[in-house]
Amino acid sequence: MVLSKPETGTPVLEMAHVAKSFGGVRALVDASLTLYAGEVHALLGENGAGKSTLLKTLAGVHRADAGEIRLNGGDFHQGNTRDSIDQGIAVIYQEPSLFPDLTLAENVFVGRQLTSGGLVDWAAMEKGAQALFDRLGVSLDPMSKARGISIADQQIVEIAKALSTDTTVIVMDEPTAALSSKEVERLFSVVRNLRDQGSAVVFVSHRLDEVFALCDRMTVMRDGSTVASSLISETSEAEVVRMMVGREVSELFPKLEPKIGEVVLEVKDLSLAGQFSNISFDVRAGEIFALAGLVGSGRSEVIRAIFGIDKYDSGSVTLLGRKLPAGKPSASMAAGIALVPEDRRQQGLFMASSIARNVAVTMLKKLSSWLVLRRKDEESTAAKWASTLQLKFADLSDPVERLSGGNQQKVVLSKWLATEPTVLIVDEPTRGIDVGTKAEVHKLLSQKAQQGMAVIMVSSELPEVLGMADRVFVMREGEHRGTLERSEADPETIITLATGGVVSV
Ligand SMILES: Nc1ncnc2c1ncn2[C@@H]1O[C@H](COP(=O)(O)OP(=O)(O)OP(=O)(O)O)[C@@H](O)[C@H]1O
Ligand SMILES: [Mg+2]
Repeated sequence: MVLSKPETGTPVLEMAHVAKSFGGVRALVDASLTLYAGEVHALLGENGAGKSTLLKTLAGVHRADAGEIRLNGGDFHQGNTRDSIDQGIAVIYQEPSLFPDLTLAENVFVGRQLTSGGLVDWAAMEKGAQALFDRLGVSLDPMSKARGISIADQQIVEIAKALSTDTTVIVMDEPTAALSSKEVERLFSVVRNLRDQGSAVVFVSHRLDEVFALCDRMTVMRDGSTVASSLISETSEAEVVRMMVGREVSELFPKLEPKIGEVVLEVKDLSLAGQFSNISFDVRAGEIFALAGLVGSGRSEVIRAIFGIDKYDSGSVTLLGRKLPAGKPSASMAAGIALVPEDRRQQGLFMASSIARNVAVTMLKKLSSWLVLRRKDEESTAAKWASTLQLKFADLSDPVERLSGGNQQKVVLSKWLATEPTVLIVDEPTRGIDVGTKAEVHKLLSQKAQQGMAVIMVSSELPEVLGMADRVFVMREGEHRGTLERSEADPETIITLATGGVVSV
């Protein structure tokens, strides 16, 4: 293990040689993590490296089989999640679960309402929540209901909740995955505030640009073990990638020479009130067509309407010369369109079913004889995709819920690719996927396009858009603002179109 120069003072948290197995799966072999007050510490590693499992032993979700955990130099009691909270461990989940009918203030103090003279002291809770929001530098109204607030705001409320108790360590496991770039900026400023006030924050992200912008130190895990720990200022992205994957990663955007064919999909004057209006474009066989724009610009809404999840008000979608009915995903699928949704956990998987079944389910027709899905076929299809996408799993018959977050994403991707669609629509194809596999996903999309598949890609990552797309269709506030050929697409032009020129780069 490579260690940077020794830190001074007592660490607030020391996790040493932690091991944890699930049945035969060794999720953690020899994991260590040391945290100091006043630092943002990145926990890095490929999908399935053990990051979430390590953090869950701290959160009281799992109990370690071996190893030592010390908090502020004393013993840490491994009990349940409540015990962890009581000892000062706060976990901010990617998608927090607030009580929608309670106010933000009530959510902050839920379970331990402030009282005075035996009565709930509403005024004190409002003041308390307001003070916490101020301390975090955010403007949220403590008296508004939680229902309908953005995921970003929900996370902030969770952080305020953590601060309202004596929290020593704040754990954020991929908090930015569901946020827009503006919301990420705000979260970062909140996290910097926390650090400057002396909190220790653990931050997990697959986006190394975020890690380098925010974190002070980092720990890298591979295959359940900690392989390195150092100051961010003493390392580089390339070095971190090498440590994570244990090899050089080939080109991140391996774009192949496209072979553009005939128009396969025509979208004409598509409108849906309040979401988008007059969206028209053609996509050709062999083309990677990117929809760019800020989160909320209507990109995801457009592709949901094309696929039929939502019904559009007017306009038409034509595939290979045949008009598709609006609002009928089954008809779109039968006609040859596949959609890999953004929210893969909720829309993409049967969590309790096997990996093999999840991969093969959309190909049911191709694989089944007399409607009996042949298990062998199911497994062989799944095995092929598992190796292409470097899926980390114990057995293909295991339920998908046992996979790490990123590996679940790979299953969704496989499931749709396996149907060999005419048009593949992917929403944020590499979100939550580690750098090594990202390159594999890009390679695969590029290969599929070259073989004639039309790919429509929604991505918030500009490098991904610029690296992969043949054409870029930019949206702002539900409207088309410009289409760029590959040769014309550069960050400035896309951002100007996406923001209306209000933000300069
Ligand atoms: N409840 C469980 N039962 C069986 N195996 C599990 C369970 N939870 C995690 N694992 C396995 O432990 C390993 C580590 O998973 P973990 O979720 O910690 O990875 P991760 O580093 O967080 O990955 P990601 O970046 O994809 O979120 C994986 O191989 C996973 O399949
Ligand atoms: Mg994880």
